[in-house]
Amino acid sequence: MSGLKDAIESVRKAAAEAFASATSPEALESARTEYLGRKGQVRELMTKLGTLAAEERPIAGKLINDLKEDITRFFEESAATVAHGRKAQKAPILDVTLPGTKPRMGRVHPLTWAMQEIVEIFGRMGFTAAYGPEVETVHNNYECLNMPLDHPSRDAFDTFFIKDRADILLRSHTSPVQVRSMMAAQPPLRIVVPGRTYRPDTIDATHGAMFSQVEGLVVDTDIAMADLKFCLDSFAKAYFGGAVRTRFRPHFFPFTEPSAEMDVSCIFCGAEGCRICKGGWIEVLGCGMVHPNVFRAVGYDPEKYTGFAFGMGVERLCMLKQCVNDLRLFFENDIRFLSQF
Ligand code: DAH
Repeated sequence: MSGLKDAIESVRKAAAEAFASATSPEALESARTEYLGRKGQVRELMTKLGTLAAEERPIAGKLINDLKEDITRFFEESAATVAHGRKAQKAPILDVTLPGTKPRMGRVHPLTWAMQEIVEIFGRMGFTAAYGPEVETVHNNYECLNMPLDHPSRDAFDTFFIKDRADILLRSHTSPVQVRSMMAAQPPLRIVVPGRTYRPDTIDATHGAMFSQVEGLVVDTDIAMADLKFCLDSFAKAYFGGAVRTRFRPHFFPFTEPSAEMDVSCIFCGAEGCRICKGGWIEVLGCGMVHPNVFRAVGYDPEKYTGFAFGMGVERLCMLKQCVNDLRLFFENDIRFLSQF
């Protein structure tokens, strides 16, 4: 019995050392086989029980069981350390003192942003957004807007035609969406139309073959020029700031009568007169009372309804507000320019 006790103690000691020094999964596994395996040392001790006297067996059995528990614990502790060590080796070295890498964030293009802002301002005045196709019919782009084939105004709204087709074109303004909206619904109507438009202009700092507009249309039974002025003056103050003043100059558009252009007092010099405004005022949009012929073309009764309409160039409004002096910058996709907004 005392021989067995000594044997148990020496196995415990050897096992403790073996597991403590096992730093790799391989060493750990071989220690486990050596002590806890089917032919391991603990099993070996068990076989010795048979040689003992009957009354000694339970005592010795308990000692061996205790030994098995201890060795199992050595194994588990060692396994945890080995796993941790492997993880620590695999993990990238983190230097918390290094500056972080800043992710490059995308953002809305300044023209899209301007367009959204304009639509939002009119939204607060009860307008909803309407959209139309960029490839339009000649009928909607000219005829319904009081520009018959021989009308000289067509020159001002000249555009790109689709090859071999005389009836469709790239719309030269967003005004045809007025026609589409009126044909699709009955008054009252209060819409704004953001969108791209096309003209064969020679490209320079203030002109492009493609540009953006926001169109507006209000139709109801008692709409007067005063409504137009109040609405557009409110817009100018919301977009450029409350100090801005507006003035309306008589103008001609085939689809409105009377027609006007709206100027804002120069936001750079406060209408003193500077290099940009050349005289204190800056033209920002065209507008007028909807021509009875336009109402006739869409089947509205011009005796019953009146309305006003307006159209503005988004590039121009955005350039003024953001102090951009060349329209081409918007289309060059230069991150250095775009990331300033
Ligand atoms: N369609 C005109 C243009 O492209 C702008 C415009 C002027 C639109 C007067 C209107 C309007 O609705 O009433 O220059």
